[in-house]
Amino acid sequence: MAHSYYGSEEVSRPWYSKKRVWTAVAVILLIVIVVPVAVTVSKEKQKENRYPNYSKLNYTLLETYAGETFFDKFTYFTGYDPANGHVHYVPRETAAQYNLTYASNTNTSVLKVDTTVGPGSNPDASTGRFSVRVESTNQYEVNTLFVFSILHTPYGCGTWPALWLSDPRSDVWPANGEIDVFEATNLGNTGNQASLHTTKNCDMSGVKRKMTGTAGNLDCYNGTENTGCGVGGGVSTFGEKFNDGGGGVMAVEWREEGIRMWMFGNGETLPAGLGNETTETMPDPSAWGEAWADFPGTDCDIDAHFRNQSIIANIDLCGDLTEAKWDTSGCGSSTCVDYVSDNPDAFVDAYWEFESFKIYKAQ
Ligand SMILES: *[C@@H]1O[C@H](CO)[C@@H](O)[C@H](O)[C@H]1NC(C)=O
Ligand SMILES: *[C@@H]1O[C@H](CO)[C@@H](O)[C@H](O)[C@H]1NC(C)=O
Ligand SMILES: *[C@@H]1O[C@H](CO)[C@@H](O)[C@H](O)[C@H]1NC(C)=O
Ligand SMILES: *[C@@H]1O[C@H](CO)[C@@H](O)[C@H](O)[C@H]1NC(C)=O
Ligand SMILES: *[C@@H]1O[C@H](CO)[C@@H](O)[C@H](O)[C@H]1NC(C)=O
Ligand SMILES: *[C@@H]1O[C@H](CO)[C@@H](O)[C@H](O)[C@H]1NC(C)=O
Ligand SMILES: *[C@@H]1O[C@H](CO)[C@@H](O)[C@H](O)[C@H]1NC(C)=O
Repeated sequence: MAHSYYGSEEVSRPWYSKKRVWTAVAVILLIVIVVPVAVTVSKEKQKENRYPNYSKLNYTLLETYAGETFFDKFTYFTGYDPANGHVHYVPRETAAQYNLTYASNTNTSVLKVDTTVGPGSNPDASTGRFSVRVESTNQYEVNTLFVFSILHTPYGCGTWPALWLSDPRSDVWPANGEIDVFEATNLGNTGNQASLHTTKNCDMSGVKRKMTGTAGNLDCYNGTENTGCGVGGGVSTFGEKFNDGGGGVMAVEWREEGIRMWMFGNGETLPAGLGNETTETMPDPSAWGEAWADFPGTDCDIDAHFRNQSIIANIDLCGDLTEAKWDTSGCGSSTCVDYVSDNPDAFVDAYWEFESFKIYKAQ
């Protein structure tokens, strides 16, 4: 009988030898460990399968940066370089005097590094070489398509050129996000790198993406190493190879569902709306096929992370990223700073040449 069984022998046995205690422990462990794991796995699975609905948006032309007035739409940043470069960003008047920014009615707008000041000059470039960083006065919000037509990307040992979107106020960064469209260092021969930089909770890990570029770091949070989440392109997406192909067009679509970039270069036929058409055809990214870079909003609230974006273009010299890559860049044995100070001739290819920037807005 059960009663006598428990009443006699069992009562003196320690609690941990009882079968039902172990059964209870097993059940609790199951609930505490297995259930959350299963839930996490199924959430991950859901995340892997989710993909934004990038349905067609109707864009209209909002603004064009082209021709002689190209640089009128920017302010010239003249502060201490936030990226610790060996550079003096000059104001507009100095840029004009040294011809570091130059725009013409043939739609070539050039932004370049000084190539005149050498070690024998007075003053010399030992405290930094003249260059330019411009920030658009207009700022943009979500549901915008940027079409950057680029004729020449800057390259050369010691250079760190970039074209990006961000809120220029350094005291709020990265609360309003940063979208790096073109970025490379030194010879620029490892291809373009596009990245997002954000505050916490914008992550590309384990989410479905559709793109031809190569995913790099996945967490966009500026936190630990500030690398952002990146996508790399082939060697012809920047520098000499890109320029030799006649440049190209980079289209950046920033919408609630995600951020995507397409690169058309090397004489490729441009999709309707991206060329020099005289017609009123508006570009339609939903017809362009797979993007080069895809940052879906699956695990990133795009509206919460990106606001107040200006267009920013610069050519930094040395600085954090260039220095980090200097030893493997094939740029010789001197330091980056000495190289930049002493070799004005080394910067003849260190120039951006823009054909136009066109900004489209979806309603
Ligand atoms: C995507 O969104 C469009 C426009 O809202 C809608 O017509 C279409 O049915 C949606 N597609 C899917 C697969 O949900
Ligand atoms: C875009 O325009 C077409 C044609 O006018 C219309 O049918 C469609 O609903 C519009 N789409 C959006 C997202 O506004
Ligand atoms: C200024 O630079 C542009 C573009 O590189 C060039 O075409 C032009 O001749 C230069 N002007 C002067 C005065 O050097
Ligand atoms: C310059 O670009 C604008 C905007 O794309 C265009 O309307 C104009 O025709 C272009 N001018 C030349 C000379 O190509
Ligand atoms: C990330 O951004 C925050 C806020 O501006 C800043 O305090 C922090 O230093 C940044 N982290 C890195 C690694 O740059
Ligand atoms: C636009 O036309 C100019 C002058 O004809 C040409 O040099 C340029 O490559 C064209 N740009 C595009 C994007 O087709
Ligand atoms: C956007 O920038 C303007 C100043 O340029 C500022 O007044 C506004 O508060 C900013 N908005 C956000 C969301 O940060």
